[in-house]
Amino acid sequence: MEFNIEWHDRLGSTNACLKERLLQGFEIPSGLIIAAREQTAGRGRSDRRWLSAPDTNLCCSIYIGTAAELRAVPSLTMAVALAVAELLNALDIAAAPKWPNDVLVGEKKICGILSERVEHRGNAGIVVGIGLNVNMTSEEAAAIDRPATSMLIEGGQAHEPASVLEALFPRLDHWIGAWQSGGFSALRETWTQKAGPIGKPLCVHDGSIKKSGTLAGFGDHGELLLQTECGLETIWSGDVS
Ligand code: BTN
Repeated sequence: MEFNIEWHDRLGSTNACLKERLLQGFEIPSGLIIAAREQTAGRGRSDRRWLSAPDTNLCCSIYIGTAAELRAVPSLTMAVALAVAELLNALDIAAAPKWPNDVLVGEKKICGILSERVEHRGNAGIVVGIGLNVNMTSEEAAAIDRPATSMLIEGGQAHEPASVLEALFPRLDHWIGAWQSGGFSALRETWTQKAGPIGKPLCVHDGSIKKSGTLAGFGDHGELLLQTECGLETIWSGDVS
């Protein structure tokens, strides 16, 4: 697929910017990427804030035009997580995707992905926001309330966020293309291999609900299958530890 990038010095949120454009009736070509050198209102999953110092990390959102239904959204996030993990692995950073929307190095988060489905007057698509910690320092990482890391911390080398985005293109093209043609089935093998292994103990928190068990696999749309004492449970959302 063809990607076109629009860089902005300062924006509230790249996800919000793309969504607003669509809701205002603008036609957005699939593959358009809005990237910001600084985000003033970056958002993460469950309405958390996404903090990123100006000119430091990669903050961007990709628009994928698709009529895919809501339950197909999580597996697009997973496709993008595979693309990011693959790029980091090629740079000798031992990153792995984590269900449902993160890329981690060990227990530390290096990238978060936020996908949102939008629809307006017959135009439907998914906005996929990527927050990849590129040049975040250890001091900045320590100020975040959850364990975090960056390409700089892991690889000892600074990178230009714009070059990182361009280096992602072939991987995004491959994994988003796989998702477009085969949905989660096209990702299942690689995802399970990288985010597994099957049988690993897991604890899933969703609001006040907490479930423990072992990883039994992933369903047809990328939902997590948890083997618990009470049987097999299907988990569509939550934080896994
Ligand atoms: C998460 O881990 O909760 C998802 C974080 C997603 C952050 C990115 S940064 C670019 C895009 N714009 C946003 O406001 N959020 C996403």
